[in-house]
Amino acid sequence: MTKSNLRPFGPEGWTPKRLGSLAGKTFVITGANAGAGYEATRLLLSKGARVVMLNRNADKTRAAIASLKREHGDDTPVSFVRMDLAVLDSVREASAELLKNTARIDALICNAAIAQVAKREITADGFESQLGVNHLGHFLLCGSLFERIKESGGRIVVVGSNAYKMGLKKIQFDDLDFNHNYTAWNAYAQSKLAQMMFAYELQRRVEAAGIQVQVQVCHPGASRTNLLKDTASTFNKILWAVLSRVIAQSAEKGAWPEVMCATEDGLQPRSLYGPTKRMDTVGPVGECELDEVALDRDMASELWAVSEEKTALRWPL
Ligand SMILES: NC(=O)c1ccc[n+]([C@@H]2O[C@H](COP(=O)([O-])OP(=O)(O)OC[C@H]3O[C@@H](n4cnc5c(N)ncnc54)[C@H](OP(=O)(O)O)[C@@H]3O)[C@@H](O)[C@H]2O)c1
Repeated sequence: MTKSNLRPFGPEGWTPKRLGSLAGKTFVITGANAGAGYEATRLLLSKGARVVMLNRNADKTRAAIASLKREHGDDTPVSFVRMDLAVLDSVREASAELLKNTARIDALICNAAIAQVAKREITADGFESQLGVNHLGHFLLCGSLFERIKESGGRIVVVGSNAYKMGLKKIQFDDLDFNHNYTAWNAYAQSKLAQMMFAYELQRRVEAAGIQVQVQVCHPGASRTNLLKDTASTFNKILWAVLSRVIAQSAEKGAWPEVMCATEDGLQPRSLYGPTKRMDTVGPVGECELDEVALDRDMASELWAVSEEKTALRWPL
């Protein structure tokens, strides 16, 4: 790939200056009370969109909505459905409630995540926590909302991470939940690889079925957010607190790739969008080199089958 392909929006990359009015459009976003998800919501609201947040923490969400209303006015169309991605029943209930009240979905942005959980934890449904929250919860959510997204000619945006090409660089089907040899890094890396592999597999299935749903994959680079604050080891928290001041960009810039993927025309399949400088951690938003592991069809198809089984979702695509 040439440098100009990597920066399809010019040397400055994609910026919110490219956004036109989003009036009449509805965006659904997970994990939007903080970090990149909150900043993406701010940006979408500033252009007149309606945003439905799917968040697990009601108190934090009330504070986030109050702050968004202070900025954009009391009748800015932002609302909230409680959803904990670590509990599949909560994802089912939130999807049902959302479908009752949301006639169209122009884009579902799968933004929420937990990262580098210091000691192995298990979700309510018995999954290693990062795989459960980051991949399986979102898999069920995407499947549950898919028909509405399809009727709307909408998009699914999966927020990945450069971690997908680190760690073990594979899905450990023989020990998905890291019953053995758990490390925070390997389990996080597997969960982000799973999310991205799922997205590219969904792209292929949607294309093969001739369905008008766009699936895009992005990452925020290194952004100053709360990502490691609750979950990481003390050492990693301190390391990131120091490092992030030097090497990371703002949460606001970290939100640009996901807003771009939810709104911009002409994006390509089998692409990964995000910042393109300093090993794709900061800088102009464009197309990043994609490690071929994310496009492995055999692993992706096995992952799809396992994900259907674990979430009890039949998704015949
Ligand atoms: N920051 C970076 O440098 C970086 C790098 C690579 C990739 N990413 C990706 O960027 C995305 C956004 O993360 P961020 O950096 O903005 O982190 P963040 O500030 O920690 O935001 C994460 C959001 O996910 C929510 N969340 C966590 N567990 C959840 C659950 N079980 N159910 C529902 N929501 C849940 C959090 O809600 P609570 O407030 O309730 O915890 C929070 O709103 C993630 O997909 C992450 O993997 C970030």
